Amino acid sequence: MIKPGNILADVKLVSLCTHGDSRGALIALESERDLPFKIQRVYYIYGTKTAIARGCHAHRSLKQLLIAVTGLVKIRCEYCGRKENFTLDRPEKGLFLEGLVWHEMYDFSEDCVLLVLASDFYSEDDYVRNYEDFKKMVMV
Ligand code: TYD
Repeated sequence: MIKPGNILADVKLVSLCTHGDSRGALIALESERDLPFKIQRVYYIYGTKTAIARGCHAHRSLKQLLIAVTGLVKIRCEYCGRKENFTLDRPEKGLFLEGLVWHEMYDFSEDCVLLVLASDFYSEDDYVRNYEDFKKMVMV
């Protein structure tokens, strides 16, 4: 279980509980139980060209869990004055993003399917798409 936090921004790499047996593996994610939010939206990104970076924005209040269900993708994050890079390359690995995290997804493998579980409906108002605006917002 990922614990909710009263914070401006947070990033956590999490291990998802796998039910495995001789037949293979299964991962179940239940809204507000295995995730610290109610799932309001699911989307997935696939067929991304290797040289392409996606994302390149922050969210004002959205919480998301990213899972590369197949393939590999790297994610560059900047938040709370920190810069960190993550690799999602296993379906039991998740990256939880909360609040003002500038994030860029890059180096997608050809077969990558990046599944995203999100805490809210799509709203352009929640996006910070300009990096300079993001920098101003996180300055203390
Ligand atoms: P975009 O924000 O550019 O994707 P990324 O951040 O991964 O590069 O979104 C691409 C298009 O899809 C854009 O027209 C908005 C639309 N979209 C939705 O309609 N609903 C959604 O949940 C998302 C994430 C995007």
